[in-house]
Amino acid sequence: MPNALTIENLSFFYDPSLLILEEVNVKISLGEFIGIFGPNGGGKTTLLKLILGLLEPRKGSVRLFGLPPEDARHCIGYVPQAIRFDKDFPISVLEVVMMGALQRLNWLGRYPSDVKIHAKQALERVGLSHKEKASFGTLSGGQMQRALIARAIIDTPQMLILDEPTASIDAEGELSIHKLLVELNQTMTILMVTHDLQTIVDKVGRLLCVQRKVTPLKTQEVCEHFALGLYHTPLTSKHHFLL
Ligand SMILES: Nc1ncnc2c1ncn2[C@@H]1O[C@H](COP(=O)(O)OP(=O)(O)O)[C@@H](O)[C@H]1O
Ligand SMILES: [Mg+2]
Repeated sequence: MPNALTIENLSFFYDPSLLILEEVNVKISLGEFIGIFGPNGGGKTTLLKLILGLLEPRKGSVRLFGLPPEDARHCIGYVPQAIRFDKDFPISVLEVVMMGALQRLNWLGRYPSDVKIHAKQALERVGLSHKEKASFGTLSGGQMQRALIARAIIDTPQMLILDEPTASIDAEGELSIHKLLVELNQTMTILMVTHDLQTIVDKVGRLLCVQRKVTPLKTQEVCEHFALGLYHTPLTSKHHFLL
């Protein structure tokens, strides 16, 4: 059985004068729930894009379920970091979810009939069935995020990748998203970037600290640092950063 994710000796830069990720080695098993954290600009989103195959490593490799990212797209659901959205744009919640199956639009611009069924099932999984016909722009921040999660899981991926899904929502919405992710983790491997370490530390199995280098940490190690009330080496080698 291959790992869900294997990253070996990966380095990446946008501009050769500034290395963004250096010698990254990560192995993630099937069914893990991984929290990813680190300072702004540390390379978290870049790492996710490399995993998704949206960027190519300058050095090293990424394998998802033993495959190169471009061959594993059908196994992955992705919730990108803060999408900007025109609240007046007339699109229903169900239509937003169906967009998760865009690659299956036929040449007439129609979806196969099962896409609507799968969209409704995905909405049920995230607890938003009652909002199916609502305009997306009328949802609360937490509901929007859940609709975007439904969009990402419409084809029941084996892995769900989320980039700061709770960054702009209130504490209650955040809690309900975390509960939802714990449920989804029964059937999929989850990678989530978050700043809210303290609220996820008891939900995830392991954490990755991304700051040019990637350091895997057990939640217990992070808890010990919380207990000391600070973040310091070896958690991060160079900087202290606030929660
Ligand atoms: N498309 C890009 N072109 C050039 N530099 C980029 C690009 N995207 C991000 N960067 C830079 O790469 C670094 C890491 O960014 P990012 O991966 O977005 O960090 P994080 O998600 O941890 O905040 C930052 O210095 C950022 O300015
Ligand atoms: Mg980011």
